[in-house]
Amino acid sequence: MRYLITTALAYTNGPLHLGHVRSTYIPADILYKYLKLKGEEVIHIGGTDNHGVPILLRAEKEKKNPEEIVEFYHKAIKEDLDSLNIGFDAFGKTHSEIHIKTAQEFFLKLLENGYIYEKEIEQFYCESCKKFLPDRYVEGICPYCGGEARGDHCESCGRHLEPFELKEPYCVLCGGKPVIKKTKHYFFKLSALKKELEEYIKNADEMPEHVKNLALNWIKELKDWDVSRDISWGVPIPNSNQVMYVWLEAPIGYISFTKMLGDIWKKYWFDKDTKIYHFIGKDITVHHAVFWPGMLIAHGSYNLPTAVVSGGYLTLEGKKMSTSKNWVIWIKDFVKEFEPDYLRYYLIMAAPLFKDCDFSFDDFKAKINNELINIIGNFTHRVLTFTYRKFKKIPIVNNLEKEDKEFLNYIDNKIKEYDKLIREFKFRDALVSVLHIAIEGNSYFQKMEPWNIKDEERLKQILYTCCRAVKTISYLLYPYMPKKSEGLLNIMNEKLDLELRGNKLNKPKIIFKKIDDEKIEKMKNNLYKNIKKDEEEIMNQITIDDLAKIELKVGKIINAEDIPKSKKLLKVIVDLGEEKRQIVAGIKGYYSPEELIGKKVIVVTNLKPAKLCGVLSEGMILAAEDENTVSLLTVDKDVKEGSKVR
Ligand code: 2FM
Ligand code: ZN
Repeated sequence: MRYLITTALAYTNGPLHLGHVRSTYIPADILYKYLKLKGEEVIHIGGTDNHGVPILLRAEKEKKNPEEIVEFYHKAIKEDLDSLNIGFDAFGKTHSEIHIKTAQEFFLKLLENGYIYEKEIEQFYCESCKKFLPDRYVEGICPYCGGEARGDHCESCGRHLEPFELKEPYCVLCGGKPVIKKTKHYFFKLSALKKELEEYIKNADEMPEHVKNLALNWIKELKDWDVSRDISWGVPIPNSNQVMYVWLEAPIGYISFTKMLGDIWKKYWFDKDTKIYHFIGKDITVHHAVFWPGMLIAHGSYNLPTAVVSGGYLTLEGKKMSTSKNWVIWIKDFVKEFEPDYLRYYLIMAAPLFKDCDFSFDDFKAKINNELINIIGNFTHRVLTFTYRKFKKIPIVNNLEKEDKEFLNYIDNKIKEYDKLIREFKFRDALVSVLHIAIEGNSYFQKMEPWNIKDEERLKQILYTCCRAVKTISYLLYPYMPKKSEGLLNIMNEKLDLELRGNKLNKPKIIFKKIDDEKIEKMKNNLYKNIKKDEEEIMNQITIDDLAKIELKVGKIINAEDIPKSKKLLKVIVDLGEEKRQIVAGIKGYYSPEELIGKKVIVVTNLKPAKLCGVLSEGMILAAEDENTVSLLTVDKDVKEGSKVR
């Protein structure tokens, strides 16, 4: 059997955060590392998704070329992945020659096979920007919940929306109201594939149950899929001035990036003895379990996915992550403080992959310090230091007692269990099997009391058995925590396999170091600071009703005189149309009384009267101030005295 593992292509409009790696990259890398360890023919293909409206919008906002944004984040994303030791055989970009060519060939094949047709549709169009406004180019109000919605998706209730459903739509570039205009689009005949897709899903034995259910539900009401866009950024559709919808071309990246490996790509995509596993986050399950297999079936030549492994959502400290609200932990910030292997351990251990899960700093610390270190760290360290002290090397023996054999038997069963679980994507359960070896090891060690054994042969038997356990743990931990595994193997002078060679031991040092409270506090403070700022901003906001309480009118200054007692104040009389008022204004030194007369100013007319320097003031004149001067607010056109300001 041959394995092709892929990970969802990350959009190049930001770096990676904990959510990306929990659902997708870490589990994929564990399976990849494990299958490789077992000597299987396996590759991991990944890369970045460079097209689509969000990237274009970001480029437009930052006045950059989309290429620049893409280059920058492609590099940042790869660095994030490297920092967590996620291994790839190829890591490509969809904005690349090989991908564009592959996607165009794919499109032409769909056309040739009769799965693509053209149809006239209506689209939002902005007349001032002279642009069609696909997807997130329009925002407005969700018709279902009244929340803010972006094009095809409501941020508040999470519903998918058809563009014309939006209430009060506006162009995100200029804020203008779009009109509806006709355009011709390409459609993919997904509805014609209902039977084939149903059959495929039903027969996909390794497809996780929740993915199957979601796909089968979706297949019930298959609509054809609009796959072209009237924008310039994307994979050009041959013989057209449109580009492909990003979701049509991005998954083709799995094929184009495999091509980066040369001719062997064909084995993975054409030979039947290949399993293809797509690791993704659950929000894009339907794209991978319905649309993508639909495309592959319609194309006709390629292998179909064996399983779509869709990981649950990750919340942060109990709340939904949000990059715009800064409620997020970026990978590069995390690895500055903590070992990447600890993150790999925690994110797997916190919940089974298919369940949603929460990252909390306190729980992170607890799981590492009280579980990983107390169980695995403690057992491996105890065995290695004790053996080092007694023999300086790993003893090899031929005969064992019953209880030794029993423990070794237990270990063998755990290895088998681990193998089965990991291949079923039960990454948490497989890791628990490793913990069990250490728990059992600790009690074996305790029961044997090697510190009381005088008979050297017996002591060797016991320590040999314990070292077998440590070696197994190091081996099985490798896919999860490659650096920690390497650390243990270095002490044992051992290779990454299940054998024990009886080598000289290096002086044991602590491999599993405790997490510092200080670092946890620092990270928490940094995170919560964002919320406090947010909350303060919200607290300081006023409503439209608050604003309506202030009555503002245009007044004309008809008289002004000095208040000799005061350094700052002048007394002015303002004509407000229906009445005249006396107001004391702090503008002395910036305006002379003479130059004020005849000026139109903005007056707060419902301010409680007060006496300033003994002079009655019945309102306030608005002025702006910087470090150099004070300037009265006035009106841009001549409006009548008494006009309301809103
Ligand atoms: O949702 C996302 O982040 C997409 N960029 C994933 C694409 S995966 C594949 F289809 F390319
Ligand atoms: Zn516009």
